[in-house]
Amino acid sequence: MNWIVFLLLITLSVSVPAEAETMKVITSDEPPYSYQREGIQDGYATALVQTTLKEAGWKADIEEYPFPRMQCPSVWPRNIMIYPLLRHSGNEDDFLWIGKITDRQVTLFRRREDTRVFPEDYGSTESMRIGAIRDTPAAEQLRKDGYKSLELVGTDIQNIRKLMLRRIDFLACDELIFAHAIEEFNHEVSASESIQMQDFEQVMTLPVNDDGYYIAMTQGSDPETVKSFQESFRKMITQGTIVEVAHWWTNTVEEAMLALYRDALRERGYIWNDYTVTGGAGTGMELVFASREEAFNYPHAMQSYAGPSIRDASLRFNLLSLNRMAEQEQWSKVLYPFVNNAIQVDGKYLAVPVNIQRVNWLWLNPRIFNAVGIEIPETPEAFRNAVIALNAAGYNALVMGDEDWQISTFFENLLLALEGESFYTSCFIRMDTDSLCSERMARTLREFRFLMQYVDRKSDDPSWTEAAGAIAEGHAAMYVMGDWVKNTFHKRGISYGENGYLCIAFPGTGEVFLNNTDVFIFPEHRERSRESQEALASVIMNPEVQEQFNRLKGSIPARMDMNPDSFDNVTKASMEALATSTVLPSFTYRQASPEEFRKGFLRILSDYIRSEESVEKTIEKIRTLSESITGEYR
Ligand code: GAL
Repeated sequence: MNWIVFLLLITLSVSVPAEAETMKVITSDEPPYSYQREGIQDGYATALVQTTLKEAGWKADIEEYPFPRMQCPSVWPRNIMIYPLLRHSGNEDDFLWIGKITDRQVTLFRRREDTRVFPEDYGSTESMRIGAIRDTPAAEQLRKDGYKSLELVGTDIQNIRKLMLRRIDFLACDELIFAHAIEEFNHEVSASESIQMQDFEQVMTLPVNDDGYYIAMTQGSDPETVKSFQESFRKMITQGTIVEVAHWWTNTVEEAMLALYRDALRERGYIWNDYTVTGGAGTGMELVFASREEAFNYPHAMQSYAGPSIRDASLRFNLLSLNRMAEQEQWSKVLYPFVNNAIQVDGKYLAVPVNIQRVNWLWLNPRIFNAVGIEIPETPEAFRNAVIALNAAGYNALVMGDEDWQISTFFENLLLALEGESFYTSCFIRMDTDSLCSERMARTLREFRFLMQYVDRKSDDPSWTEAAGAIAEGHAAMYVMGDWVKNTFHKRGISYGENGYLCIAFPGTGEVFLNNTDVFIFPEHRERSRESQEALASVIMNPEVQEQFNRLKGSIPARMDMNPDSFDNVTKASMEALATSTVLPSFTYRQASPEEFRKGFLRILSDYIRSEESVEKTIEKIRTLSESITGEYR
């Protein structure tokens, strides 16, 4: 090799150094922004980092460190990317800032049962023990504000443990991070120790003196590289490539169906990013979402329900109108008419529908019925007798997770079975006070209390999947739940039939299809996110995706132009019921009445069962609730 060629090669290899291809990236475990899922770094902020680097022609080599170490500027050499980093006046010059991930909201949580009053002026109480994470600005701030009894640890999980053991009174945490810390905590403990978002209450939001979470480079990094990252970050944000989706579909079956959305969206050039809070019927999501709303920190898309929920949301924040798309894709022709109506508010399409799900199903373990030698019940009386007989034979006649929405699912089925369609409609759609407070309601409540004695409430792990598992494993004979249950059976290799599971319409409701339609709504808030939101809406409506998604979910597509042959027998039976019976909106799944009424009613039902309140007192509470609902909902 001659010298000139040799020098040329050296020069080339110096100007394009090997490490230029892979950027070393430091992060810490801050779900939902950055966390490991099956050994791979995931999360909203991680997706932002990966896309930024990719746009600029780099790859990411991401490593996780504890938060105090990650955010310490002197630890890291130059040319290193760090996220999610809190930017504040104290570290402004320590890093080169690439772009902002999100604002932050620090909230003080206490255990709900711990009802001591916490003063408005949070700085004035010194005796309260507050847990925070060492070296975080929140901790710094609390210290500056005069907190002497601050208890510092390394992780939120340690704090949750201390709160449960009453070693601290309050925990200071970013609300989104707290929700995920609860999930992680539950993975580490036994089912009987598991906790839920509802076990905690937000006492107050702390003033924060930082500008939120950022992606940054270490000081001294190559200015050209930094500039190219800043540019690609800006481009990514203005193009709206990332679609953050808030939902509660987190079990493995649900993950698999969401993969269809993810993949279809990726094909269109967008990245789906999860914002999940576990909890059936969106109960956990509802609690956590309030603080995002306060901070105007909306995701691009949110799981919700057809009907009044959409109106409720549209009164709280602006929703993207999908009218243009609905017209182009002829939604009014391809959707079932009742779905087409239930996704519009005052003539505007404000949601995209996913499915049609029957809620009045009774799931059964036939082997238990055979062992006891009784028939599968077809009337409410036969149901009552079967419950008594199964119990007398030593079986759990009914199973249910100890959650208000599951209790209410059973109640709405029972009310429909005992008192019929028009009474259901008067109570839950018209919210007619006379019906709600009638002897018929009292009678239903009494029967409900009677049957609830025989329910194994699974309070250790109240999730619906656990209750479904009890049917599959023969630990209980019957479960009243929507059609999403069957996929958890199929996942366990248990199929429909005498040796697997059976299902029938809840006795006495065979003429009705009690419906629960899942939808996604799109808060209108960020500039230029419209394209990405519309891309997701169109993915959800896409005929192929609708068919495959609903096959996995166990539901009926919201579109009518699907081939019924590709669905399993239970869905086919459900389709048949849809075609031949009266479709009523499910109250529990927010399809029938406004949220204020539903929430109040569920609480009253829960007090009735859990605190054994009298029927008379319960009816009085229902009256007060019903009379408080006024305005446009009447
Ligand atoms: C409902 C939803 C169903 C199912 C269920 C259990 O809110 O409509 O699709 O996911 O929760 O989580």
